[in-house]
Amino acid sequence: MKMIIGNWKMYPGTPKEARQIIDKLTTLVPRSTKVKVVVCPPAVFASSVMEWKGKAPIVLGAQSCAKDDEGAWTGETSPKALASIGEKYVIVGHSERRSMGETNHDVAQKAIASVRNRLKVVLCVGEHKRDLHGNHFSVVSTQLRESLSGFPKDSAGDLVVAYEPIWAIGAQAKQPASPADHREMSILIRRTLTEYFGKSAAFTIPILYGGSVDEENAAGYLTLGEADGLLVGRVSLHPTRFAEIIRRAITPSRV
Ligand code: PGA
Repeated sequence: MKMIIGNWKMYPGTPKEARQIIDKLTTLVPRSTKVKVVVCPPAVFASSVMEWKGKAPIVLGAQSCAKDDEGAWTGETSPKALASIGEKYVIVGHSERRSMGETNHDVAQKAIASVRNRLKVVLCVGEHKRDLHGNHFSVVSTQLRESLSGFPKDSAGDLVVAYEPIWAIGAQAKQPASPADHREMSILIRRTLTEYFGKSAAFTIPILYGGSVDEENAAGYLTLGEADGLLVGRVSLHPTRFAEIIRRAITPSRV
């Protein structure tokens, strides 16, 4: 089963717009055993989105969470509270959070707190840049190893890894990564996961690609790139385009 995750980031600005997106999505997202669709709205809209989506085949995720279940942490969102409203996933270690100072150690603690609350973890890793020396491989494996520190070894089933090269993310990206870039890096990610969880568990962990995914390039990552799914930013706010990506995950040959 492929996994398509929409990360809305800090959009949209009003509940009215959030409702419009969800109302369209619920009519467009096909019910299929071949794909799991996760939408990660801003925390402020999460409860409403949960209600609006009704029985549509969409599960909800959060974009980050606190390291603790409770405490005097102004502005933070408890993973326990996220789970209590029915969220199922939480993105940890997104590059935009890391750029605000989140370290691998912080990411590891958030991941542990998430599984403690029965939330599945979408752990993001990715290098800032590439050079001819191939340093990006060690950058990503170190990031992954350190971000998994203390993660329960029997919880591989609660983990999803998203490879998101920072140079390929967002409107300022000069180009998306190629399917081959993803395939190559996912081999290294799988190896690092094998060291940590053992071979059979490591092979059950989905490895997604993220960074400037759209309806045109999606199928390439899922076929040539051998990605188990996609983490979609900007395009996930456009229901028709996002639904097209989901259809590509169900039938990649539609390319
Ligand atoms: P993008 O964002 O699809 O807008 O590049 C991806 C992400 O940041 O997860």
